[in-house]
Amino acid sequence: MKVERPRGTRDFKVGETRVRDAAERRITEVFESYSYGRIVTPVFEHAELFQIKSGDEIREHMYVFKDKSDRLLCLRPEETASVARMFVNELKNERKPLKLYYSDRMFRYERPQRGRYREFWQTGVELIGSDRPASDAEIIVLASKCLQALGLEFTLEIGHVGILKALLDDLKIKSEDHGRVFTLIDKGDVESLKDIVKEKRFVEVIGLKGDVEALKKAAELLDGSGGTASALRNLEEITSFAKAAGIDFRINLGIARGLEYYTGMVFEIRVDGLGAENQICGGGRYDNLIEVFGGPKTPAVGFAFGFDRVVNALELQNKVKADRRKLICVTAVSAEEMAESFRIAANLREKLRGFSVDFEFSGKSLSKTLEIASNQGADYVVIVGRKELDSGEVTVRNMTDRSQENVKLDELAEFFG
Ligand code: HAM
Repeated sequence: MKVERPRGTRDFKVGETRVRDAAERRITEVFESYSYGRIVTPVFEHAELFQIKSGDEIREHMYVFKDKSDRLLCLRPEETASVARMFVNELKNERKPLKLYYSDRMFRYERPQRGRYREFWQTGVELIGSDRPASDAEIIVLASKCLQALGLEFTLEIGHVGILKALLDDLKIKSEDHGRVFTLIDKGDVESLKDIVKEKRFVEVIGLKGDVEALKKAAELLDGSGGTASALRNLEEITSFAKAAGIDFRINLGIARGLEYYTGMVFEIRVDGLGAENQICGGGRYDNLIEVFGGPKTPAVGFAFGFDRVVNALELQNKVKADRRKLICVTAVSAEEMAESFRIAANLREKLRGFSVDFEFSGKSLSKTLEIASNQGADYVVIVGRKELDSGEVTVRNMTDRSQENVKLDELAEFFG
């Protein structure tokens, strides 16, 4: 029988997980520094949780299945709906705003290619219970700071679906057609869009891009109802906070996002050179989702990094770092000192923090062991020989400069620091 992993999934070797873990840790440290705390939600949920409000893009790509009791379940395609559900079930009485983060696997039945997988990771945050422009800005700034902490170059674009929805209302486009309009904007299909929204102004508005000057042009074009004006004011306030935080961004009123639940500010981050799958982050405000799930009307805003794409970007920009512990290898000169070396290794593991201690099980010759240790990248080899043991010592070989010295057994842990 030939066994292979399913299409769109990956195996990660130790070297790869070291790189991924270091990047994830760096991002979540920034989350923690902004006072966000980690939550975990189930890998599978009731399918309808995502079918109600996530939009066609997600619905078409869901892994849906029935369990043995005929419940219609799915592997979660994203986490925001799960967090909104968790809020309604578990968190609605907690003090708000709530600042939550997650770093987990998601599943979408998509056509796999580099940067697009069927099983992938999202590392994201949700800020629940504030509708203030500063909270939108915090989310945008946080995403930007995480990527800066990783040393990445990127472009961040901010839009506002609230402006577009208000304009569609002004133009008397029925709300049941809004979803289709947003899907077409997201796909860049302006021609089909013109069939639904005849007015030229709409296409001009979604074409507005650039620095904050674009907002002045938007004000001229929108020239209108209370809805568009207050949404535009909201975006102006958000961007003035983002400016105050000193981050780089562009306005792009053509951002529609693939998900249906957004109500206000939306943003996307791209990295040049990643090909078609260059969007490494997406997010925005969703003020109605919690209510749709039976909770009290609660504003919320958040984003998710496509973590695999972040790692691809690190590789592309030569910014890969792996946290590496110093490695000490403990070996006996002969079978006679095996038990004693085994004890020394265990002792070192207990006493030393931030080191890895390996034990040579096989009783190979010393020269062979040193060769293996060198190939493993060991920093030190502790050589346990009879003669040294008799005087309460072991030999420590520094693998970097190849120097050797005898160290008292009861000072061994202190020797490494
Ligand atoms: P999304 O744009 O669908 O938003 O996904 C967020 C990010 O996940 C994307 O920007 C992309 O980098 C990554 N991603 C999506 N699909 C794949 C895939 N098949 N393979 C690899 N990476 C992928 C959301 O999911 C929202 N929940 C984000 C959010 C949080 N909005 C508010 N809070």
